[in-house]
Amino acid sequence: MPPLLSHYLDGQWESAGAAAESLNPSDTRDIVARIPLDDGSAVAAAVHAATKAFPAWADASLEVRSDVLDRVGSTILARKEDLGRMLSREEGKTLPEGIGEVIRAGRIFKFFAGEALRRTGVTVDSTRAGVDAATYREPLGVVGLITPWNFPIAIPAWKSAPALCFGNTVVLKPSELTPALAVALTEIVHEAGMPKGVFNLVIGSGAAGGALAAHADVAALSFTGSQATGARVASAAIARQARLQLEMGGKNPLVVLDDCDLDRAVQCALDGAFFATGQRCTASSRLIVTAGIYERFTAALAAKVAALRVGDALAPETQIGPLASQAQMDKTLAYLDIAAREGGVRRAGGEALSLAQPGYYVSPALIVDTQLDMRINREEVFGPVAAVVRVRDYDEALAAANAGEFGLSAGIMTSSLKYARHFTRNVRAGMVMTNLATAGVDYHVPFGGTRKSSYGAREQGFAAVDFYTQIKTSYSWA
Ligand code: UN1
Repeated sequence: MPPLLSHYLDGQWESAGAAAESLNPSDTRDIVARIPLDDGSAVAAAVHAATKAFPAWADASLEVRSDVLDRVGSTILARKEDLGRMLSREEGKTLPEGIGEVIRAGRIFKFFAGEALRRTGVTVDSTRAGVDAATYREPLGVVGLITPWNFPIAIPAWKSAPALCFGNTVVLKPSELTPALAVALTEIVHEAGMPKGVFNLVIGSGAAGGALAAHADVAALSFTGSQATGARVASAAIARQARLQLEMGGKNPLVVLDDCDLDRAVQCALDGAFFATGQRCTASSRLIVTAGIYERFTAALAAKVAALRVGDALAPETQIGPLASQAQMDKTLAYLDIAAREGGVRRAGGEALSLAQPGYYVSPALIVDTQLDMRINREEVFGPVAAVVRVRDYDEALAAANAGEFGLSAGIMTSSLKYARHFTRNVRAGMVMTNLATAGVDYHVPFGGTRKSSYGAREQGFAAVDFYTQIKTSYSWA
């Protein structure tokens, strides 16, 4: 019998009846876990516990907070193999990708163990003689974290580690598609000696997320997921003046110029568009290629795409795992139809695959000769699909990269310092890559986008302090 996962409220595991199952997308006969789906009552209990725990945690010594985060990071790193395996089984990315994500999560906790000791303010001379002015960074209170299925441990880590490090208490609501990793993270947090109520976990779907977003005692919400859900979280949060951070979609351009290193461009496109089955908000889903290299680039990339081995995420020979769910598979296939109807030409892949075991398999698809205004170039697919657009020159490439409503990550492949620099300064995106894929980011630097991709302060690294603290300005005279 697959395990029944529980909520974690006020330092205790609280079981509730099984309402749904999380399945292995590589073999849907394999049930990973049975899960409760909270209707809002566990959210209320979690927020209550986090509210009670907040004053003591906010006042705890920096070393207390640093040490517990450091222990969490060490345990995650020590368990990278078994957690990576669990991740690949439940989410469907390959085992090396699963282990890589677990390592990232462990490193994030280690980084924020250090950041806990760097809560800095400034002291300044007041404009008034005899008065001193200073600023302090203070925690916000209870923060609600709503996380997606595609990075089931890294995203909970990069939201909860900074929240905790700066003295906030946490209610985490992970995606109901991949709750097992959030439960494993919670076990590690518990074993690391986190005081009760500081970290709480609620398993549920949209109803639980909605209850968290609407709860009057949740001071801030950080959300990663779809634009549609993000908009709902935003209205609930803004209506009650909660602090808000949203990370949503992307339609990330990778510009390939005539003067680039062709092999590297092909490799970056392959990695950026298809690894992790294209289920990354940073995926290089729009390949914008200048005319002089277009034929050679698309031919070389199509050959590599067709050679990718699709299969069970845990099989050693697999390069591309399944989609994470039936819904993602249906969406991917629907966009392949849309692209074909719009006139895109399929150069590789794009087939639903029947393997020995039932799973959500689609062969990675390369669609060439697409136009910028086609839906395949404007809407996020979140699957192993890349569309190629032909442009005349760099200027047209930059304009194409800046088209559309998203602005998360953008990349350029070129040997020209002039174009690389100009692109870096003029592309409308929160992250810009030169001779690198648009996906695959470091954990110690800011993450986030412009326009419809993101809202609010940047996540991660040294920028996280801006979202997870508020500034108090003090004046004193003596
Ligand atoms: C990466 O490209 O390394 O949901 C990270 C996502 C992003 C994370 C991407 N928030 O795909």
